[in-house]
Amino acid sequence: MTTAERLPDFPVGGCAVVIGGSGGIGRAIAVQLAGRGCDVAFSYFKGTARANETASLVRSAGQEVHVGKVDLREEAEVRRFVDEAAEHFGGVHTAVYAAGPYIPMRFISQQPAAAFREVMEHDTFGCFNLIQAVLPHLRTAKGSFTALVTPAIRRYAARDILSAAPKAAIEALVKGLAAEEGRFGVRANAVGVGVITDGLYHALVESGDFDQRFLDASRQVMALKRLGTADEVAEGVVFLASSRARWITGQTLMIDGGYAL
Ligand SMILES: NC(=O)c1ccc[n+]([C@@H]2O[C@H](COP(=O)([O-])OP(=O)(O)OC[C@H]3O[C@@H](n4cnc5c(N)ncnc54)[C@H](OP(=O)(O)O)[C@@H]3O)[C@@H](O)[C@H]2O)c1
Repeated sequence: MTTAERLPDFPVGGCAVVIGGSGGIGRAIAVQLAGRGCDVAFSYFKGTARANETASLVRSAGQEVHVGKVDLREEAEVRRFVDEAAEHFGGVHTAVYAAGPYIPMRFISQQPAAAFREVMEHDTFGCFNLIQAVLPHLRTAKGSFTALVTPAIRRYAARDILSAAPKAAIEALVKGLAAEEGRFGVRANAVGVGVITDGLYHALVESGDFDQRFLDASRQVMALKRLGTADEVAEGVVFLASSRARWITGQTLMIDGGYAL
């Protein structure tokens, strides 16, 4: 038997924190973490009903759940939620940033500055606030941080600046975190989410931003010629968060069907 086979994927005590657990991808991550034996503390913003559904799914997987309403722009709110989760479960060994606002797709020339500022505040500053709140707990647990980003930071698609710009900054935060916190045993990685048929997808189809032409073109560019699912993304996130990835840090794994090649 190898050392890798003997280690549990996640510690027995403490919990995994998932920010954005009411979202399509956040929910899949919370449920898969619960399936690997993690108690889960997750946040929602406005989606109370969706948060309740996620909580039921985590409980059905046999794990305990703690749910909090958090606006990521509010540092004190984020810190309170994370500290409460740590107190409730006896620590935080895993943190996943799976939140992000709705992003109207426009050319840079047509994007109002206010929209750019707002998205940076929700997404990049939100992720920064989470990192600062959770870091003391991750140091104690020698835990991991994983953030969702986008393949648009490698292969830009027209009208996608509100996704590419904040996520490029988040990737830089993740790399910095990996470089600075490795000495405390903390790992940090990112997952680039390609076009999937869950989460934000539904709002983007409804608004017309994801029309048939856009979806066909995206599929065509992907090596695997199909859109993905939240579960497929969650598999990669849970792997990077787990002890199976214990020598992987500072990396961005594109889970995008080969879009960013
Ligand atoms: N789906 C895709 O195709 C795709 C592709 C590339 C990247 N991504 C990225 O992956 C992440 C998750 O996407 P998703 O598809 O799961 O989106 P989603 O279903 O719309 O979920 C977004 C989550 O973020 C939360 N949220 C939004 N603003 C917040 C704020 N200010 N404070 C706290 N929470 C906030 C939402 O809470 P409520 O719902 O409770 O309000 C929800 O839980 C996002 O960062 C997104 O940009 C997604």
